[in-house]
Amino acid sequence: MSTTRYLTGITTTGTPHLGNFVGSIRPSVAASLTSGVQSFYFLADYHALIKCEDPARIQRSTLEIAASWLAAGLNPEHVTFYRQSDIPEIPELTWLLTCVTGKGLLNRAHAYKASMDKNTAAGREQDDGVTAGLFMYPVLMAADILMFKAHKVPVGRDQVQHIEMARDMGASFNHLYGEHFVLPEAAIDEHVATLPGLDGRKMSKSYDNTIPLFSSREQLKKLIGSILTDSRAPGEPKETEGSALFQIYQAFATPGETEALRKAYADGIAWGDAKQVLFERVDQVIAPMRAHYEELMAHPARIEATLLAGAERARALATPFIRELRAAVGLRSLAQAAAPQKAAKAAKAALPSFKQYREADGKFYFKLVDAEGRLLLQSAGFDAPKEAGQAIAQLQKAPQALQDLAPRLVPVEGVAPADVAAALQALADAAAA
Ligand code: TRP
Repeated sequence: MSTTRYLTGITTTGTPHLGNFVGSIRPSVAASLTSGVQSFYFLADYHALIKCEDPARIQRSTLEIAASWLAAGLNPEHVTFYRQSDIPEIPELTWLLTCVTGKGLLNRAHAYKASMDKNTAAGREQDDGVTAGLFMYPVLMAADILMFKAHKVPVGRDQVQHIEMARDMGASFNHLYGEHFVLPEAAIDEHVATLPGLDGRKMSKSYDNTIPLFSSREQLKKLIGSILTDSRAPGEPKETEGSALFQIYQAFATPGETEALRKAYADGIAWGDAKQVLFERVDQVIAPMRAHYEELMAHPARIEATLLAGAERARALATPFIRELRAAVGLRSLAQAAAPQKAAKAAKAALPSFKQYREADGKFYFKLVDAEGRLLLQSAGFDAPKEAGQAIAQLQKAPQALQDLAPRLVPVEGVAPADVAAALQALADAAAA
């Protein structure tokens, strides 16, 4: 019944390489097949604009990344797979969050600070070449996550601060306007390897040491041939420790195959032969996907249709949610405020209310908020939604239940117990009326 929602975005500025496959595509596709999990994967093309001013490259990268994920087995029937810029509610939510985000919070973002430090070191003005887009990056990312009420966000370590910021922004908004957002958590897979590139440093576009995921067989062979090795001759035992070739092999082979190569290293396999072994093993994994990739790349209109269908599913959630959020902050229809026949409904709406929700820790919580969304009472975590529901029922029946349930409740700072009791009484009275 209770599913965990995973959401992650991929910035569309580059061509997917083996490091992306091992570190992100493969584990994400596998995770999307787990039961009890709902996955939202999207192409972060608004984020791409922050780093890339080449329109053709943005378009090309969007196509290549979408085709790569689909070729790697992502099933768009199971996963909500969409393009960020097809969801106009995201920039709208970005603005709502911008208005509850301290500028100081954004000043502390690592990516922004790194740009400032670089400028300072080079003797330039602090904000030289820093766009407001770079500064606002964490807010756009928070909108991506909060819009779809994601519980878990699989990201690399460099992105953890952004998830914490999204939590902060969601919590600020909830505090001001009532419980609307689920507060997300970063999900970091400790078992996923970071792949070394051709020169032994982390495989990354910025080091220009990548092996594209979908190069041709010939190109793949040539690139693997150019992996940096030491100068040990054939017959000399070789070190697996620190060998980029060995680490890449390990990410594609079974444990048994990896052990066999470890032994071959000890026995002095020639580097040329080791590269051939690596090439054949990687190609064995890639070849079936490559055929699918090429087929997709030859029919970009199909990918476009897949993404538009994904956007439609995403917007089925985003459109009503942004409506709710607009109303919460006061962007409301004036006609409704004026209509006198709505008075009875308004009186009912003015009552306090209970809200049940699930936190990223997997536990079930409830809150009591007054008509303005001010928090009056907060529960501790319950293991089952039913327990939380029963506690609410007790409180609704009689305010005295507050005493019995005290161990399961967390007092809210600045709220007098009498106010809580009065709110419960108002609810009980309304139910009796
Ligand atoms: N910033 C992420 C990266 O560079 C990409 C991204 C954008 C993202 N929006 C997101 C990741 C939302 C997770 C959730 O890797």
